[in-house]
Amino acid sequence: MKYITIAMAKGRLAELSIEIFESIGLNCSEMKEKSRKLIFTDEEHKIKFVLVKASDVPTYVEYGAADIGIVGKDTLLEEGRNLYEMADLKFGVCKMVVAGPGELKGKLDNLNHKRVATKYPRIAKEYFQGKKGQTIEVIKLNGSVELAPLVGLSEVIVDIVESGKTLKENGLVVIEEICDISARLVVNKVSMKMEKDRIMDIVQKIKAKVQEDK
Ligand code: PRP
Repeated sequence: MKYITIAMAKGRLAELSIEIFESIGLNCSEMKEKSRKLIFTDEEHKIKFVLVKASDVPTYVEYGAADIGIVGKDTLLEEGRNLYEMADLKFGVCKMVVAGPGELKGKLDNLNHKRVATKYPRIAKEYFQGKKGQTIEVIKLNGSVELAPLVGLSEVIVDIVESGKTLKENGLVVIEEICDISARLVVNKVSMKMEKDRIMDIVQKIKAKVQEDK
């Protein structure tokens, strides 16, 4: 039997992703040991788990290097890959927002030249230029985005907010909400044809588990 490969995002979603696969009977014990390994196998069910950077999960799945993946909706929107989004897993819940100093609240539309710092250039452009018809200058950063308005690199940021702690501790506020974010189960389009039964079995079990936990 061929292995089914599952791509998991390192970081925030890792633990909860392991939990959900264990809850449907897959063996993730190897993954819970502290190591630098990137591939883990459940021989009994012929499953391989690969640990990749969150923003690379859609790439692995689109190219078929992984058949299934768990990834945040933020990454899916930003990467815009060609794959099937099969289920909302209801964990990793947060919001995509425009944030900045409190004095800009309610005044953002009047600001002519906006510099927007973000890890999500596509989402920022889609929101400001696509939805609101406003021209912006996007400044792409790779992390600690909240710093940008504090040091004059940008007026606002587009980023995810989970607890709100990072914004609060840096004296910033949510100015506008863009959309809700949560972890999603995604599947490669060809794998869905070739391994339909095995993949749908995993998808259905995960969906049932999410439903049960609600
Ligand atoms: C994310 C995000 C915010 C923070 C929000 O960054 O970009 O900075 O988490 O979480 P909070 O509302 O619970 O404070 P992450 O921790 O992934 O690190 P990064 O800045 O290096 O991207």
